[in-house]
Amino acid sequence: MAYYVTTPIYYVNAAPHLGHAYTTIAADVMARHMRQRGEEVFFLTGTDEHGEPVAQAAEREGVTPKELADRNAERFKGLPPVLEASNDFFIRTSDPQHAAKVQEVLQRVHDNGHVYKDLYEGWYCPRCADFKSGNEMGRDNTCPIHGIPLDWEHEDNWFFRLSEFQQPLEDLYERRPDFVAPRARYNEAKAFIDQGLQDVSLSRAKLSWGVPVPWDDKQVFYVWFDALLNYYTALSYADAGRDLTETFWPATFHLIGKDILKFHAIYWPALLMAAQVEPPQHLFVHGFLLQEGQKMSKSLGNVIDPLQVVETYGADALRHYLLRDVTFGQDGSVSTTAFEGRYETELANEYGNLASRTIAMVHRYRDGTVPRAELDAQLGEALMIDERVADLVDKADLTAALETIWIAVRRLNRYVEEQAPWQVARDERRAGDLDRILCSLVEGLRVVTVLLHAYMPAATERVLTALDQPNTDYGQARYGAGGGGSSLGRLEPLFPKR
Ligand code: MSP
Repeated sequence: MAYYVTTPIYYVNAAPHLGHAYTTIAADVMARHMRQRGEEVFFLTGTDEHGEPVAQAAEREGVTPKELADRNAERFKGLPPVLEASNDFFIRTSDPQHAAKVQEVLQRVHDNGHVYKDLYEGWYCPRCADFKSGNEMGRDNTCPIHGIPLDWEHEDNWFFRLSEFQQPLEDLYERRPDFVAPRARYNEAKAFIDQGLQDVSLSRAKLSWGVPVPWDDKQVFYVWFDALLNYYTALSYADAGRDLTETFWPATFHLIGKDILKFHAIYWPALLMAAQVEPPQHLFVHGFLLQEGQKMSKSLGNVIDPLQVVETYGADALRHYLLRDVTFGQDGSVSTTAFEGRYETELANEYGNLASRTIAMVHRYRDGTVPRAELDAQLGEALMIDERVADLVDKADLTAALETIWIAVRRLNRYVEEQAPWQVARDERRAGDLDRILCSLVEGLRVVTVLLHAYMPAATERVLTALDQPNTDYGQARYGAGGGGSSLGRLEPLFPKR
């Protein structure tokens, strides 16, 4: 089966922060997990480079939009490798192949009769690159997201007949209750549709930094349509020798933050229908990372730099923390204190310690060779979780999946305490018991490690290498799938004290 997961493409008007890292990490966990299950995966991320937010930031810095985009796109492009994210391609909307495909698709929308010219008058936020209707505005005509005054725009635009898609969208939502998750976001999108859809601007006349409208050389496409199309255009040129569209479209999951729901849940499927392209299968909408109750954002100046966190603690720790501490799909506060707490209690003391003491005991009591013995059945129930974890990841319920695995990690640590192998080792007559305990522990550790691999690729690889059982295929996530008798290597502390 083909599996296609995307992140939003990030604006290049600022440096990457933890909020951007968050979506990229989540998408990576899904991509890695699916690869473990043997699926053909495509994972896309990239940068959104056109439009006012970038043009204005460039003007402030006294450089051309392209110069600013080139400079910042590099920083965004450098982020996935630091996060251990395994994206298959990085799209930039300034790629000429993207622009050509945008023109092709939107020309089709035009030719299909869904576009007309009209005068646009209304309130516009240049930071959101979004027109605001009455109920989307803050006090005194300000943007409720950025707190800046809105601009009164007045220009000839090409319009997209969104209103024509009222019924098709209602049908889509009716037919596919899992189109948008979590449920509250589905309801929010549906309520927006039920209010009655208005046509929207498809182009801008005052801006030159964008994809030119092929039938009108005085206009460029409105940045949101250009940006949304990235999910589709990338497939046509990501692999030089092959068009991947047939294989991967419709996308399996678009992961997005809740701030960009309207564009993805309403404009996007409508636009695709207008171009006679199948809408994506699922949108998953996550919440905001908050600091002291406020959204972390560049405009509010309360951002955490993911590069610094990774430098001190490693990417695995950040990945674990973000998906564990903030329920994926809801808002959640992040803080250095909470991060350090999880690092120490869960990573160092629970998983890290489970791995190091298991391996150390096999060295101490059995010269590093895992004894062959029957596995302890009492661990079976706690460790037979592969299907449950897979079902949760299928729904992008990444926090619940991680919690399910973590319960097994804790069960294994309890097992060590209950069985007290150090006592059993003192009694020669109990050699068989010790074999069973060590063999079961190694197998349990191996199972949770295969399951955790998508979340913490680096640490788990080290553990599996030390266990001499490097296979991460999902079939290996079963208690009993491992081969006993392996000889173990050494393991340096996985999560050392900082
Ligand atoms: N360029 C548009 C998206 C176009 S997609 C076709 C955009 N870019 S953005 O850089 O402003 O933000 C994109 C995404 O970054 C958000 O939807 C979300 O995925 C992530 N986040 C940015 N700040 C965030 C938080 N404070 N918390 C969680 N995620 C946030 O919008």
